[in-house]
Amino acid sequence: MASRDSAKAPCRDRGRSALLTLAAVLIALPIGAMAAVAQLRGHGGPVRALAISADGQSAISSSFDSTAIRWSLTRNAAEQVLRFHSDAVNAVALLGEGRAATAGADGRIAIWTFGKAEPDAVLEGHTAPIVALTVSPDGATLASASWDHTVRLWPLAGGTPRVLDEHTQNVNGVAFTADGRALVSVSYDLSARIWPLSGAQTPTVVPMPTPLNAVAAGSDGEIAVGGADGKVYFLTVGGARAGEVAAGPRPVISIAISPDGSMVAAAGIGGAVAVIDRKTRTLARTLVGPGLPVWSVAFLPDSRTLLTGGADNIIRRWNAATGELVDPLLVETAGDPLAAYAGDRGAEVFRACVACHTLGADQANRAGPTLAGIFGRRIATAPGYKFSEALKRLDIVWTPETVSKLFEVGPQVYTPGTKMPEQRIGSEQDRAALVQFLERATKR
Ligand code: HEC
Repeated sequence: MASRDSAKAPCRDRGRSALLTLAAVLIALPIGAMAAVAQLRGHGGPVRALAISADGQSAISSSFDSTAIRWSLTRNAAEQVLRFHSDAVNAVALLGEGRAATAGADGRIAIWTFGKAEPDAVLEGHTAPIVALTVSPDGATLASASWDHTVRLWPLAGGTPRVLDEHTQNVNGVAFTADGRALVSVSYDLSARIWPLSGAQTPTVVPMPTPLNAVAAGSDGEIAVGGADGKVYFLTVGGARAGEVAAGPRPVISIAISPDGSMVAAAGIGGAVAVIDRKTRTLARTLVGPGLPVWSVAFLPDSRTLLTGGADNIIRRWNAATGELVDPLLVETAGDPLAAYAGDRGAEVFRACVACHTLGADQANRAGPTLAGIFGRRIATAPGYKFSEALKRLDIVWTPETVSKLFEVGPQVYTPGTKMPEQRIGSEQDRAALVQFLERATKR
């Protein structure tokens, strides 16, 4: 079934432009308006997707700001900004062995080796935004879901992808079953499909009462899907319905099952994050915080800690068992780098930068170069940091005036082609406070 009913295209474009408008509005939010105590801050737009490494030490996030960021969860630092896509990055997957995949509204998938500035490979074929990625349990196959109505299975060793094209509407989510023998896809077309990956190739079609936005598979084989009606539906691997729980009044857009199988987290477009007790099929608690809507949820291997990413560009850490926010800055091993500047407005503004930039001459580069000795230095000359070619070609010397200008007009305008995610500081006072703070804190 390869029907590409053109009547559906406007619907897809409407959804997409609504998302892009939302992203544009949020990118323009002044940094100073954010909460004072940061979690993982670095994106210049809503955090759209999250993936956590098997050892729980690192994570990767992607954003409407067209970047992905690799994080150290132990140091609360951004280690690399991955910039390749020309539009929102909707999906990420960790491939193991220091590799990751990102996919975006540009319909492309980029395969990365950490530390390298450019992708190793780019997978092309989808003809509309890609909105979900997942990797098979054996690490050999990457699955992508797209608004072109298809799912593609890409052999990571290379070769042509298998195209699963039975859905008649946008495919919004994909998950491999824990045994790796089947793939589940969910769509606006009121169905989930369970595709056997060997033997008979015809999928089990599970009709559903609502359009579906997200899917997760548990380690015991159970499947959870999130619906536009605000409900989480449970399915068996065979496709039988196995219960449902109302997560909230608005569509569920992201879903995760804790590794131990006890909890399901379901994020809603307008509401909070529902934590569902899977055994009793009841709503255990609702996480309410800033940064709504929440676009992404992911559990750490401890099955307790939940990361959420949402509209205020910040990644938050929650204790899903108690519903409380965990503030990583308070437990950071190296201590809060800005503690010495308590009460300084400029230091508060710098909380938006601290994940990526250190200040002292003895501190290493993070995802961005150290800002030690920044004033009077020519752009892209900090020693030991691999700047983008775009930045190296610019003729700027960093002064209080040029740094202030950078965040008045935004890095994309002032330093086109930069890898730094877009962000602006709207208030003149906040820009002044930031550069005064930098003058003190970056002196060599
Ligand atoms: C998500 C990570 C990230 C965040 C957050 C971030 N930056 Fe950057 N920044 C970078 C990267 C990456 C570069 C290098 C860009 C390139 O090579 O294209 C950079 C470059 C810079 C430069 C130019 C440095 C030089 O030596 O030429 C300055 C100045 C700067 N950032 C200041 C800031 C300030 C101030 C903030 C907070 C308001 C901030 N950045 C937030 C990642 C970030």
